[in-house]
Amino acid sequence: MKILFLTHSFNSLAQRLFIELTRRDHEVSIEFDINDAVTHQAVELFQPDLIIAPFLKRAIPETIWRQYTCLILHPGIIGDRGPSALDWAIMHNQQEWGVTVLQANADMDAGDIWATENFPMRFARKSSLYRHEVVEAATHAMLTAVTRFQSATFQPMPLDYARSDVHGRLHAPIRQIDRCIDWQHDNTLLILRKIHAADGFPGVLDTLFGEPYYLFDACMEEHLSGQPGTLIAKRNHAVCRATVDGALWIGHLKHKQDTQSTFKLAAILALQDHLAEVPEIPDDPFCKQSGMTYRDIWFEEKNEVGYLHFDFYNGAMDTTQCKRLRDIYLTITRSAVRVIVLMGGADFWSNGIHLNHIEQAASPADESWRNINAMNDLAQAIITTDRQLTVAALQGNAGAGGVFLSLAADYIYARDSVILNPHYKSMGNLYGSEYWTYLLPRRVSKSHVQSLIQNRLPIDATDARNLGLIDECFAVNSEEFANKIRQTAESLAKRPDFSALLQQKTHQRELDERLKPLQSYRDEELRQMQLNFYGFDPSYHVARYHFVHKIPHSWTPRYLAKHRRL
Ligand code: COA
Repeated sequence: MKILFLTHSFNSLAQRLFIELTRRDHEVSIEFDINDAVTHQAVELFQPDLIIAPFLKRAIPETIWRQYTCLILHPGIIGDRGPSALDWAIMHNQQEWGVTVLQANADMDAGDIWATENFPMRFARKSSLYRHEVVEAATHAMLTAVTRFQSATFQPMPLDYARSDVHGRLHAPIRQIDRCIDWQHDNTLLILRKIHAADGFPGVLDTLFGEPYYLFDACMEEHLSGQPGTLIAKRNHAVCRATVDGALWIGHLKHKQDTQSTFKLAAILALQDHLAEVPEIPDDPFCKQSGMTYRDIWFEEKNEVGYLHFDFYNGAMDTTQCKRLRDIYLTITRSAVRVIVLMGGADFWSNGIHLNHIEQAASPADESWRNINAMNDLAQAIITTDRQLTVAALQGNAGAGGVFLSLAADYIYARDSVILNPHYKSMGNLYGSEYWTYLLPRRVSKSHVQSLIQNRLPIDATDARNLGLIDECFAVNSEEFANKIRQTAESLAKRPDFSALLQQKTHQRELDERLKPLQSYRDEELRQMQLNFYGFDPSYHVARYHFVHKIPHSWTPRYLAKHRRL
């Protein structure tokens, strides 16, 4: 079938559906929801059999839903209506939630039901629930709905609140007043719930040092306490704020300014002028933690395997994070472990250099340069590891430089539902570094190198495995994935031919080095990056500005809008 996606952006859910439907031989074209005229034009040009809205913020024009079946993905259980579906589900501490595929009609979210899928809720950030449970359930539900549509016999179910299996209801949009934190009364769990329910977007509006800030990226602190509402500690990127019954960490803030567009920054950067008196309470990444606290890098060791976790918010890695991670990595290489597993974070493995912190810097070009060099130093340390075998374990998605960083490891495994974006070009024709010109051709054919880099399309773990980009993918569930990774890494460490494997790897590295030194790859890539950062063409700086400030799309790129290519 010809399927048109009408979507606010090509987000992780839209990407996953695009991959799954394309794999099932559907021809999928994408149009961003810009205005009704553009939508009409897209429908006219593509003449789809079916329209799917994976992530829409506006209603579909009546002239379109009357003529075409339009399936809308609503992140709520049957009967749930209105925006802020997930926000309310978290605020109300729902134990089970779901997604529903509805047919667009005159009433928002009240159309006939084509499919639905429920899942148990986790106490987690909205953005994390969206990227895991919602994407997974939505994929199943949408594939079911598409199959039902194709059957041409299925009758979707009208929404009927009298039915005993309809538990949802209409919700008003959630407001900041509903999210408001009372630091003198709310306990830590309640505050965490409020911040989790707003994570990703829009954050909880609060006041710090007399200024309005949106709060994001919160986690529990089990040891510190102080005067409720005051900042009692700082660590790496985060600040710790006391509550009536303990404390919590806040990793990211967005300054609310009425006259100027702002964006999320690490709390420590956003508040830098105010934190001189706040004590730094460092964390030892090698120390086994008792109790919950904020850590963005930590290490665990078991049965001669070392697991290095780097859970950076949104997978973005700034200069200091890359340097810290490299230092810790190098310390591990000097230890007795035989295998090092690079775990990344639970939601993202890595999305490359930190575009927000670059945007914020006094000279974004200089900061881009520092950041990419710090990433390269990290990649180089992994590539040249000669005492251990290394494994990249992709629990979450990876994009741009993050994907290429993972290729620095000897073995790459991904969770089944991971999506990879192994390309840089969408960021204003960025050339990219992280030794990708060495690492990518080691794994995939010449023609696939070209198609991955040029087409700018996402691929899933299965496709990545089939191309040879990664070694294997398994387990949808994060826990299952972690177990399988543990087994795989431990068997690698115990292999009778471990020394031979290590020798083979170092020998291959020597051969590669003789053929073309790593430094030459780096120099060539950085010459191109220098043009991106300091050259006459400002495309990278413009694209980064648009990305960081979330400027709405004014057109759909041709590589997504097939119907506009002719
Ligand atoms: N730097 C800073 N923030 C980043 C980031 C980066 N490199 N990559 C992603 N993010 C942020 C997004 O702004 C978004 O922020 P939000 O929490 O305010 O919504 C969040 O991470 C999630 O990203 P989103 O784009 O919504 O996720 P996605 O799964 O739909 O798309 C990517 C994933 C990787 C395709 C997309 O985020 C992307 O293109 N990132 C930029 C990658 C890049 O060019 N890196 C620099 C070159 S190495």
